[in-house]
Amino acid sequence: SAEVIWGLATSHVPSIGAAMDRGKTEDPNWKGLFDGYRPAREWLAEHRPDVAIVIYNDHANGIDLDIVPTFGIGTADRYTVADEGFGKRPVPDVIGDPDLSLHLLETLVDDGFDLTVFQELDVDHGFTVPLSVWTPDPGDAWPCPVIPLLVNVIQYPQPTAKRCYALGQAIGRALKSYPKDITVGILGTGGMSHQLAGARAGMINPEFDAMFMAAIESDPAKLAALSREELIREAGSEGIEMIMWLIMRGAMNERVRKVHSHYFVPASNTAAGLALFDNRAS
Ligand code: DHB
Ligand code: FE
Repeated sequence: SAEVIWGLATSHVPSIGAAMDRGKTEDPNWKGLFDGYRPAREWLAEHRPDVAIVIYNDHANGIDLDIVPTFGIGTADRYTVADEGFGKRPVPDVIGDPDLSLHLLETLVDDGFDLTVFQELDVDHGFTVPLSVWTPDPGDAWPCPVIPLLVNVIQYPQPTAKRCYALGQAIGRALKSYPKDITVGILGTGGMSHQLAGARAGMINPEFDAMFMAAIESDPAKLAALSREELIREAGSEGIEMIMWLIMRGAMNERVRKVHSHYFVPASNTAAGLALFDNRAS
């Protein structure tokens, strides 16, 4: 079977990637954020999985807005880093794992989750920034093959938190039935509270973020009960990205051990959050 050994929840703010690419991580504005990543990065460097799954959203870079799948999965053997208008980030393209992708696809469809299939996909900051948070210096290649699982969080109606949590649980079941014995790291990305446009642009909600950070570990069912409207009201129109953390959490065991967490305001317009969980039975 495929065993989830860890789950990493992290924001995907583009300027976190830009700060790394331009050598600004020691600048006063950024140092606090990156210092807070260090314990998670050290632990992750010692726990390299055979394959990773990144639950993420595209921001109209890899997929045009005329087609917005609610849920999708990449089945390619390679994913190119998207050019979002400033040139490609200087990070490696992504090696996929078509075999595990196809197993997940088939099993999830049989389980009632009709995923859109991406046989080709350019991955944007929603995907590459979490990889950089995990692995700041990838060299020629990321630590392992990575599978993209896409979620629409940018256009109404986004899937419910409840449906996302259920998808995560279905992913957990699908991994258990994989014929090969491999280890898996799963990333839930986006968040925390932020709103990029409109009258509330720049809003941050530390109280809600603290509640979410605690409950993602110990009471994810409480978060799965939040409505789309509650999420947007409390976390901002982009803060609803946090439903992707629930997919990650659903794929993990009922009890997980928190390795490290970090909360830093602001990274650009966003409350940046990170939480790393060990999923191995202790
Ligand atoms: C920012 C945050 C995001 O989640 C995103 O997708 C783009 C920009 C920001 O805070 O700048
Ligand atoms: Fe985003």
